[in-house]
Amino acid sequence: MGNLNALTTAIRDLNDEMTRSLAGVGDTATLEAFRVEYLGRKGRVSQLFKTLGDIPAEDKSEAGRLLNELRDGITHAFEERSGGIEARALDAQLLRESVDVTMPGVSRAVGHLHPLTQVQREIEAIFQRMGFDVATGPEIETEYYNFEALNIPADHPARADWDTFYISDTTLLRPHTSPVQVHVMESASPPVRIICPGRCYRRDAQDATHSPVFHQIELLWVEEGLSLAHLKHVLELFTREFFGEGYEMRFSGDFFPFTEPSVQVHIKAPGATRWLEIMGAGMVDPAVLTNVGYDPEQVTGFAFGLGIERMAMLKYGIDDIRAFLTNDLRFIRQF
Ligand code: FA5
Repeated sequence: MGNLNALTTAIRDLNDEMTRSLAGVGDTATLEAFRVEYLGRKGRVSQLFKTLGDIPAEDKSEAGRLLNELRDGITHAFEERSGGIEARALDAQLLRESVDVTMPGVSRAVGHLHPLTQVQREIEAIFQRMGFDVATGPEIETEYYNFEALNIPADHPARADWDTFYISDTTLLRPHTSPVQVHVMESASPPVRIICPGRCYRRDAQDATHSPVFHQIELLWVEEGLSLAHLKHVLELFTREFFGEGYEMRFSGDFFPFTEPSVQVHIKAPGATRWLEIMGAGMVDPAVLTNVGYDPEQVTGFAFGLGIERMAMLKYGIDDIRAFLTNDLRFIRQF
């Protein structure tokens, strides 16, 4: 090279070439390639600066000015281009990742409590308002709590009615919630006023009103001076609140080893012709009170065990207990 004219030409050519090349740059990768080739430490502009040594001394400052002008001009053009590409990339990203908040959302199906759970809670709430506490007990019971403590000795024929599924030689799935009465009385002194909801198991064959697995709510009130009249009154208050007006209630004699006297309670829905048995009940047998260390001369009590499925069937006019267990959504969604 060696003289200013030649350098001026080289500068103009490189400027033209870079301007053209930069115009074709459209993404960050080619932009970086451009920077390395022209503006990098060993790039074409730097190389041209190196020829400054060959320029005669009197032209050096003019040559330096022209080279600086070239470098500043192209650096400026590069930065502008780079800003434009980044802005475009950002725009594209925003577009890609944007959310249309006006689009309809994905609705999640919200479930609800099973009708039996609803009915159980409703019954609990009614008795809680009357001052009863809620107690629970084990579903796997010992023979003692299931039989002996409830006045059903080993040779008593009633045992056959309550025999269910044995887990071991001395433990079985409870056929009713009555054993919970004993647990509660053992751990508290009178007055005792509790209800105990829970699952029960029986050898009953499945039909429209029987299920081998079902639910009961037990009630127990022990205090001085309680009689069958109190039981009847509590039941009347309860049935009126749970069913509303128009339901009829009927008492008839029954036998349970753990109550004396014992009754069976039937309910008839308005307009129905059939009575449905909803519970067994009675005055707590003195032997049961003695078994838990209470003095039957001092306190008396009454108890009942009602079937939750039967209550729900009566209230909602369901004629087959199996509907609760088959999980048909067309049935479940009606509650
Ligand atoms: C008892 O279980 C006694 N423990 C009730 C009791 C408690 C009496 C306290 C005295 C004092 P029973 O076997 O009748 O009694 O059952 C009570 C209720 O449970 C029945 O009225 C019925 O509503 C329900 N029930 C019984 N067996 C089934 C079954 N297989 N399927 C659905 N519900 C049932």
